[in-house]
Amino acid sequence: MKTIVMTGGTNGIGLVAAEQMLRDPNVRLLVGARGKAPSKIKCLPLDLASLASVRSFAAAVEQRLGDARIDGLVLNAAVQVGDVKHRTEDGFETTFAVNHLAHYLLLRLLTPRLAPGAIVVMTTSNLHDPKTNPIAPPEHADAGKLVRGEVELAKSQGPRSGLRAYAASKLCNLLTARALASSAFAQERGIRVIAFNPGLTPGTQLSRHQSPAFKFVFAVLLPILSVFLRMNTPAGGGALLADLALGRTVSPTGRLYASQIKRRLTWPDISELASDDAAMASLWRDSAALVGLPAAD
Ligand SMILES: NC(=O)c1ccc[n+]([C@@H]2O[C@H](COP(=O)([O-])OP(=O)(O)OC[C@H]3O[C@@H](n4cnc5c(N)ncnc54)[C@H](OP(=O)(O)O)[C@@H]3O)[C@@H](O)[C@H]2O)c1
Repeated sequence: MKTIVMTGGTNGIGLVAAEQMLRDPNVRLLVGARGKAPSKIKCLPLDLASLASVRSFAAAVEQRLGDARIDGLVLNAAVQVGDVKHRTEDGFETTFAVNHLAHYLLLRLLTPRLAPGAIVVMTTSNLHDPKTNPIAPPEHADAGKLVRGEVELAKSQGPRSGLRAYAASKLCNLLTARALASSAFAQERGIRVIAFNPGLTPGTQLSRHQSPAFKFVFAVLLPILSVFLRMNTPAGGGALLADLALGRTVSPTGRLYASQIKRRLTWPDISELASDDAAMASLWRDSAALVGLPAAD
């Protein structure tokens, strides 16, 4: 039996992935969710906008595991909100808190339960890279600033601050994946880490907090056009995610960034921003301080 623990398995790309994984009778899936999944997926309560909820979820997973270990950890949930004004119950900027900090805490709490050779997939986005996101690229991955909603280095927050916050949170996901992959823990136990970019995938619920015009384009217009433009689909991205999580698709040696482009999985070089070792180390250390953990176990 393979045990997979997952976030973001109740909608969009993650829901497809969860359903596909469950087709394998040897998979036991534990999905953390704030609501019910619209299928046979069994969920344990998890609201990523609350660090207390992350801790409760990790404890519930531990209890379910018993003596078993985690074979796959899929950190896929995310939100996109229109600005940087929202705060979680912990007082942190919502996009950063949900997309990065909650997942960082969950990763730290569950890492000791990973089986040797386990697979960790963190869903990132090519919006983390200025080369593929000229509209609102991240300006930094400084946790101390991002947690206060300071996504821009200039003092005033521009009109695209919400998208920039999302892009920065996805840069944090990729830096966190790199930090885990390079850790002594992962290397000694053969933990395989993948940062998965589904690429622009219209038709999911990711645009739910955006303006009506944005939602119309993302949720209605683009899914229709995607048939002709060969854009990525939730079904295709979900299948790729399931294959990566179950080890049916294996990363080429030395490759960590799995990127879907026009419905094909590619393994490009990591962007310049995400290759910054100093930013990676300080993000790990500062995130630990924010969630009240030491930088190393
Ligand atoms: N769609 C794209 O174009 C695209 C492109 C690149 C990367 N991605 C990445 O792909 C991943 C999946 O996105 P998607 O497009 O499938 O989005 P989606 O349809 O909105 O699904 C997001 C998932 O995250 C969960 N979630 C959000 N906030 C949560 C919270 N506070 N606590 C617990 N769970 C929460 C949602 O749960 P509920 O069911 O409760 O809402 C849902 O299961 C994300 O990491 C996203 O950044 C997407």
